Amino acid sequence: MDPTTPRPHVLMMSEITADGKLTLRKGASSKILMKYMAHETEILLHETRAGCDAIMVGSHTIKIDNSFLTVRLVPGKSPLRVIPNSRGDIPLESNVLKPDAPTVIAVSGRAPPDRVKAIRDRGVSVVVAGEKDVDLPLLMQILWKDFGVRRMMIEGGPTLNWHMLQNRLVDEIRLIHLPFIVGGADTPSLVGGMHIESEEEMIRLEMTRFYLCGTNLVSEYRVLYRG
Ligand SMILES: NC(=O)c1ccc[n+]([C@@H]2O[C@H](COP(=O)([O-])OP(=O)(O)OC[C@H]3O[C@@H](n4cnc5c(N)ncnc54)[C@H](OP(=O)(O)O)[C@@H]3O)[C@@H](O)[C@H]2O)c1
Repeated sequence: MDPTTPRPHVLMMSEITADGKLTLRKGASSKILMKYMAHETEILLHETRAGCDAIMVGSHTIKIDNSFLTVRLVPGKSPLRVIPNSRGDIPLESNVLKPDAPTVIAVSGRAPPDRVKAIRDRGVSVVVAGEKDVDLPLLMQILWKDFGVRRMMIEGGPTLNWHMLQNRLVDEIRLIHLPFIVGGADTPSLVGGMHIESEEEMIRLEMTRFYLCGTNLVSEYRVLYRG
């Protein structure tokens, strides 16, 4: 890919407990917590989806939550669903492979050809980006160039969030704060991955807005990368 190819503008959006967690416990679906979102905030989530060309979610979230990632609560078009899944081992009965909205499964060179074919046979696009894991910067450029994606949101989970931030691919963050504490040292939080070694590596945010949406606080940030 030509290094000058741009990438889409990326918004990370997530519902999050007062202690920064995304689910009740490790391995639990985020749908359990989502039931406690105010209706106005569910509308905000669906409006945000309708305002994006694409929505990206990690393959592990798809395996646990079996998300649809469609626009249902407001008028508007469902965005292109993008799932990085290096080995192409997404369950073939997953809701994102159903024809409610277009989907791209991004695999790497590790994906066996029979898996790629099985996904394509469902009418779903498969793109190859990277050798081992999915090369996220390359995937962003492919989405811009081949799929016309200009604005994309990511809805987690923590592993994908970490890699997107580490690759400096996130421009904005919008958090829906749920008034619960769930605890748990290994309960998924907003960003997973490895810890950082020093304060120089902290990713700085600038708060741009905060407001009540129904009964939920929503906070918005611009991501400031150094150097
Ligand atoms: N509250 C919320 O807003 C919210 C939102 C989303 C998810 N969640 C929760 O988060 C949990 C799942 O999160 P998770 O961290 O385990 O998984 P995840 O971030 O959903 O998915 C990570 C997987 O994506 C695939 N992947 C491919 N290329 C990648 C790359 N370059 N960088 C990162 N990932 C890549 C990898 O699996 P492959 O082997 O397939 O490549 C990786 O294991 C679930 O419990 C879900 O309910 C909560």
